Amino acid sequence: MNHLAGLPEGRVPVLRLPATPQDTNAGGDVFGGWLMAQVDIAGSIPAVLRADGRVVTAAVRSMSFLKPVRVGDLVSLYAEVTEVGRSSIRVAVEAWVQRRRPRPEAMRVAEAELVYVAIDERGRPRPVPKEAAGG
Ligand SMILES: CC(C)(COP(=O)(O)OP(=O)(O)OC[C@H]1O[C@@H](n2cnc3c(N)ncnc32)[C@H](O)[C@@H]1OP(=O)(O)O)[C@@H](O)C(=O)NCCC(=O)NCCS
Repeated sequence: MNHLAGLPEGRVPVLRLPATPQDTNAGGDVFGGWLMAQVDIAGSIPAVLRADGRVVTAAVRSMSFLKPVRVGDLVSLYAEVTEVGRSSIRVAVEAWVQRRRPRPEAMRVAEAELVYVAIDERGRPRPVPKEAAGG
């Protein structure tokens, strides 16, 4: 079986994990905050690579929950740098799920835009290095 079935073609998720019962509220639904945490982790991955070092999350510019996530869903997160400032890095994140029951399907469940800031060892903003040739 293709483990990326139904997900966007030609794109590679930066993070994949299942939603488990411990990620739910008392009503049995997956917390929006759980998904936000995964989105933040996913967004930080291209930000750290682009910054070539430590970053902090400066802002969640937007976060939209498009469809509910259910226990057992396999969540895949896609994250791409969209803009680089002096010390800031803007990242677009999409969350998708693959669900097996009652029938196999995949859908986009959330989209977000976050801003990370490259910091030095004292937590102060530092310039993002120029992009190396070849990425
Ligand atoms: C993010 C942080 C390092 C910025 O420090 P600062 O002294 O305010 O820095 P500056 O005002 O010089 O801004 C630095 C850059 O961040 C950007 N920035 C700061 N706050 C921002 C915000 N709310 N939204 C978007 N960009 C922001 C600025 O536009 C600037 O970008 P540029 O260098 O590309 O032009 C500081 O606010 C911080 O440490 N915040 C806490 C971060 C954190 O702990 N996150 C995890 C929370 S649990």
